[in-house]
Amino acid sequence: MKKVKTIARPNIALIKYWGKRDEKLNLPAVGSISITLDGISTKTEISLTKDIDKFYLNEKIDIDEHSKITPFLDYIREYIQDEVYFEIHSTNNFPTAAGLASSASGYASIAQGINHLLGLNLSNTELSKIARRGSGSAARSIFGGIVEMHKGIQADGSDCYAEQLYHPEYFPLDVIVVITNTEIKKTSSRNGMWISKNTSPYYSNWVNTSDYDINAMKIALREKDFNKIADLSIRSCLKMHSVMMTSNPPLMYWNSTTFEIIKQIEDLFYEQKQPVFFTIDAGPQVKLITIPDYKKHLLKFIKKLDNIQDYYVLELGNGAEIIED
Ligand code: PMV
Repeated sequence: MKKVKTIARPNIALIKYWGKRDEKLNLPAVGSISITLDGISTKTEISLTKDIDKFYLNEKIDIDEHSKITPFLDYIREYIQDEVYFEIHSTNNFPTAAGLASSASGYASIAQGINHLLGLNLSNTELSKIARRGSGSAARSIFGGIVEMHKGIQADGSDCYAEQLYHPEYFPLDVIVVITNTEIKKTSSRNGMWISKNTSPYYSNWVNTSDYDINAMKIALREKDFNKIADLSIRSCLKMHSVMMTSNPPLMYWNSTTFEIIKQIEDLFYEQKQPVFFTIDAGPQVKLITIPDYKKHLLKFIKKLDNIQDYYVLELGNGAEIIED
């Protein structure tokens, strides 16, 4: 039987996405800019089955994950106008649902795999729109390097897609993901975004200032200006977390270790003028970004940290790829 195997990597946003302009079509209220990572990944094997989808995550049937994948596969069936069913085995080599965007690499690898399995010949732009239906950030993992997600303005989402701004070698960066807690998060980003949109008094300012942040980041990237990239990333992250924290109920994704690390990194960057910055998503892990020359110093700093569970040393990587068929 025909099978394909794909690989996709998580990405982390420098200019963050939080909030949807359309829940059903999964259209973001703001654009975002991300980097695709290398060193952690989701590998997915896909084949056709009869009458019913089968989904295995890390070789186990997970009822929760199954219930999220089914609507995504239903959407694909509707898109291709064909009543086909899939057996999907996805394996992550990093903790699932711990703020490391496992859904991004997961949905991107499935979209790319189905495209190849059925010979659909869809462009990466089109694949990013399909992956977006699974999770907004998955659209970005279709591409490698530095990626922009366009929020678009059309009601049908036709202009809402991701695009590569720069390939991974354009600006070599090292990323260290510091794991402070591997428990599954209490509020999913989908629910959290809905809560923030409906309750945070800062939500409209967050949406209204996002185009400015995107444009400023594009200039900083064009100029390869690390300090500007760092400052804009830190402020986009803290602005998003201010919206989260002022939601009702409050969305507090940090723990005391998260806070301790960002205080120290803030001091390293703003006071001691060292080339390192942090970003945090909907979870307590801290992602530290630096240039290759400073990696050794940063690793020394991390080894001295108390209370961390683990860390991953990563670089920038490619988009979703076929590894076997
Ligand atoms: O699309 P989701 O559900 O993976 O949401 C991603 C939201 C954040 O990770 C918090 C920010 C971002 O832009 O990745």
